[in-house]
Amino acid sequence: MQLPRPFCLLLVCLFAMPALAQDLAKGKDINGTCAACHGQYGAGGKKGEYPRIAGQRAAYIEDQLRSFRSRKRMNIPMFPYTQERELPDEDIKDVSAYLASIELPTKWPVFKDNDDALTRLTAMEKVMIVPRAEGNVDNGKDIYQKQCASCHAKTGKGRGKFPMLIGQYTNYLRKQMDSYIKGERPHDEDDSRGILATLKESDLQDILAYLTTLQDSQQ
Ligand code: HEC
Ligand code: HEC
Repeated sequence: MQLPRPFCLLLVCLFAMPALAQDLAKGKDINGTCAACHGQYGAGGKKGEYPRIAGQRAAYIEDQLRSFRSRKRMNIPMFPYTQERELPDEDIKDVSAYLASIELPTKWPVFKDNDDALTRLTAMEKVMIVPRAEGNVDNGKDIYQKQCASCHAKTGKGRGKFPMLIGQYTNYLRKQMDSYIKGERPHDEDDSRGILATLKESDLQDILAYLTTLQDSQQ
């Protein structure tokens, strides 16, 4: 039987697709385990003890899961969940793609009259607004745009493997800054203490304050 050419092309596409795209449904399943600490929608919790992982860059999430596994980044709670037996490489890709795809709005939703209670509750649960942090926003902006934006992007949303910093708990970011400065976590490849060790304490706080003002650009 001779099938028309467009139909053949469609078939080829249908077969080729699963190999290209990550399996988001499987990623959602895997996230069931992560949800115990990071929450159902990856919004994190306990004021940043568990970081937000929703909407983070997939390449960065993958990288960090591998770093936890190899203990390049030490984290006792995460370590068992990242072992090959628990989380094979393919699962790392699926769960990272799924988490990256979750959008957490930074504005309260506007409802229609006929929206039911569950729709309203789900929409409200997803809203994530990090409270404004104290500090000199202008100074924070100045330093951020000069010294951080080349990797973390002007918008703070990150790029490639460089993580998004906006929409993240301030406490969590502060803790990571400290562990970079102490040399416990490598920040960039060239210098284990990295750029942060060259800044004053008040500059770090100002950058954090500035980052909390950028959240509106998330959507
Ligand atoms: C037992 C609690 C727990 C579970 C379960 C857990 N995590 Fe975590 N996770 C943490 C904690 C705590 C941190 C913060 C580590 C730190 O402060 O450095 C973290 C950090 C992370 C980070 C780094 C975030 C960043 O911005 O650098 C990623 C990514 C992550 N977890 C993904 C996952 C995924 C995916 C799963 C499920 C496969 C998972 N976690 C399961 C507790 C947990
Ligand atoms: C040369 C590129 C580069 C520059 C410039 C840079 N960073 Fe980073 N940053 C990275 C990379 C790469 C990571 C992830 C490191 C890892 O794998 O643990 C990171 C991670 C972070 C994290 C942790 C994010 C998380 O979710 O755990 C914070 C906080 C941070 N950077 C702040 C800053 C600040 C503030 C500046 C400017 C003063 C800055 N960075 C400049 C590359 C850079």
